[in-house]
Amino acid sequence: MDQTKIFLNENEMPRQWYNLAADLPTPLLPPLGPDGNPISPDMLAPVFPMNLIEQEVSQERWIDIPQEILEILTLWRPSPLYRARRLEKALGTPARIYYKNEGVSPPGSHKPNTAVPQAWYNKQFGIERLTTETGAGQWGSALAFACALIGLECKVFMVRISFDQKPFRKLMMQTWGAHCVASPSEETNAGRAILEKMPDTPGSLGIAISEAIEAAVTDPTGKTRYSLGSVLNHVLLHQTIIGLEAKKQLAKAGEKKVDVVIGCAGGGSNFAGLAFPFVADKIAGADIDIIPVEPESCPTMTRAPFAYDHGDTAKMTPLMPMHSLGHSFVPPPIHAGGLRYHGMAPLVSQAIVEGLLAPRAYHQLKCYDAAILWAKTEGFISAPETSHAIAAVIDEANKAKEEGKEKVILVNWSGHGLMDLTGYDAFLSGNLQDYSFPQEQLEANLEELKDLPKPEARKSGKW
Ligand SMILES: Cc1ncc(COP(=O)(O)O)c(C=O)c1O
Repeated sequence: MDQTKIFLNENEMPRQWYNLAADLPTPLLPPLGPDGNPISPDMLAPVFPMNLIEQEVSQERWIDIPQEILEILTLWRPSPLYRARRLEKALGTPARIYYKNEGVSPPGSHKPNTAVPQAWYNKQFGIERLTTETGAGQWGSALAFACALIGLECKVFMVRISFDQKPFRKLMMQTWGAHCVASPSEETNAGRAILEKMPDTPGSLGIAISEAIEAAVTDPTGKTRYSLGSVLNHVLLHQTIIGLEAKKQLAKAGEKKVDVVIGCAGGGSNFAGLAFPFVADKIAGADIDIIPVEPESCPTMTRAPFAYDHGDTAKMTPLMPMHSLGHSFVPPPIHAGGLRYHGMAPLVSQAIVEGLLAPRAYHQLKCYDAAILWAKTEGFISAPETSHAIAAVIDEANKAKEEGKEKVILVNWSGHGLMDLTGYDAFLSGNLQDYSFPQEQLEANLEELKDLPKPEARKSGKW
């Protein structure tokens, strides 16, 4: 019988995370403080515990995964690598398609790969409570799950539109013992200021991040810290366990080479998690197409400039060198809530500037069409975010067919969509439209970056 799933034993799980910062041909630019000077690690101390700040600034290529974290990860890791034989057959492609199934974690996505280490390092540092934001609810539920297992309190500011549209994610967070409020809320200065100006706002990740940071840094006990589910270097680092496992599994499947690596990108973490170990191979000379995929309605990588910008609306975060649509960006309400962030991880952004990645953007109708074909062939119902990666897989598999090439395509199946069926309902009943982010609005948003420092787009010119 042909093999569908390629497993690793628990004792074959990677023991170290991979840090791309050590291998980028041009180093990352530093985050800047309000005075325009690079920030020092201790300036981040009110927001994050020092053990995670050390990872954030680390230039070490490999970072050990503590044993207690590995033990919790075994609840769902190593995650299976699937060969998408039924999709291949439906497409009639000579390509061999493999997907890493990150939907098998208890909350249903890749997010717990970093939620568990973040909660663990905070606990080690003596922290008692974490605050965070969530868009579609995947990250909030992942952190709620991690805090429950590790023994921390958890407070989640959930973007208003998802809070109203996704009661089940909220209930998952509550089941794991977290406290979840709609953002903007009356609980913070940032939330109150926005509600005064825009009482009916659907909210945004940028606003919810401002509220979660404020709630952490204003706790008089000093025992609260903030936790972010994507974008930052240490978050991407924790996710690299995905790509490191995938490499071992592809070798077990007898593959000697990968031609195309694909992931959807909101803040960049699941994409980076799968792709960065392969970016290392590309830097070392391998010929691989590495494709992060985003929505046309939030075109951070494909249309926004590489700029210094804040990670949140109230400008509480340092300035980060990243592709950004502007920190006041309020996204149109498309269904892939987790892909609606205004910025892109600095590590992913720098890899784009270097020419190591080939980002692309898709409209949501094409993505839902792809997810439906996936459901009818592979069976799994994909998260709307993940459907963007699937659309790219199908395009690449069709391209391999046209070229008559037996390519190996690897994709991160970042999560299941069983809590996102209202999006499928809207699609199946013909109530979804495509939406391109208007150029005038993009230019108006970018006005707010005008007076901020400009990063140098450093590239080695090798790709
Ligand atoms: C299933 C799924 N995939 C992808 C993403 C995008 O986030 P990131 O780019 O950090 O992986 C999200 C975010 O919530 C998600 O829930």
